[in-house]
Amino acid sequence: MQKLTRFTAAFGSMAVMMVLAGCRQDMHDQPKFFPQRGTTLYTDGRSVRPQVENTVAREQLRQDTYFYTGLVDGKEGDGLPFPVTTEVLKRGQERYNIYCTPCHSRVGNGEGMIVQRGYAKAGDFHIARLENAPLGHFFHVMTYGYGAMPEYAAQVTPEDRWAIAAYIRALQLSQHATQADVPAGAHVEPLTEVAEHEGLSAAFIQEWHVPATAVTGTPDNEPLALPAPGSDSTKPATNPAAKQPAANPGAAPKK
Ligand code: HEC
Repeated sequence: MQKLTRFTAAFGSMAVMMVLAGCRQDMHDQPKFFPQRGTTLYTDGRSVRPQVENTVAREQLRQDTYFYTGLVDGKEGDGLPFPVTTEVLKRGQERYNIYCTPCHSRVGNGEGMIVQRGYAKAGDFHIARLENAPLGHFFHVMTYGYGAMPEYAAQVTPEDRWAIAAYIRALQLSQHATQADVPAGAHVEPLTEVAEHEGLSAAFIQEWHVPATAVTGTPDNEPLALPAPGSDSTKPATNPAAKQPAANPGAAPKK
């Protein structure tokens, strides 16, 4: 009896599988549209159908033009289209650090890592023109790009673009902050103090210089063993790494 049940179960599931497989084939062969391919079904030959007249697709009703363009009567407007809160600034800081710092750096001076590696100098947010620029300008630059800067509309939502614009303004203000800018009783901490209680050297607050070996060195941070300048005309005549000792005193000597 048990044997028979097992046989029925096995046979049954096989039959189901065969039926399903057949089904799949049918669905595979059914008439359907392929993206961007023509069709004979419609007289205009297009498989991608135009939007029905006088209708608006979801997410396409962009009634709040300022929110989506940053423009008021064709001119860059100032102010956020929604209230600024600590959450908005935190979100802006997070998004800024992800999307903008590679070129603009964390402090917004336009000396990010990609620029240090040769990309066009990115905008310095602390020049007078940008300090006085309306918030809509930052939104507009992110949305449409600016000169050598690509647009970020595809990666960053309009809401996040505004949050970033708000954060950039805070970043700009922070550069000239004084005790008078904070509520009475709050303490403005100079960077020297921050460095001290974080146990960092005083040099931490000075400009950072990328050691030449970090650019041209091997993964071990050892300078590349290049021939002396001039010994081979097919190689670049000078290499900063060849002239300098290893700029990483902490690295253990190779045995
Ligand atoms: C791939 C590098 C790169 C990234 C990433 C980048 N930018 Fe830029 N940005 C540039 C460069 C280069 C310029 C200078 C463009 C020029 O003057 O041709 C620039 C200029 C600017 C300017 C100045 C425009 C002006 O009026 O002079 C603003 C504002 C700006 N970027 C904002 C941002 C924001 C916000 C982000 C992050 C969403 C961002 N950028 C990400 C490269 C970058």
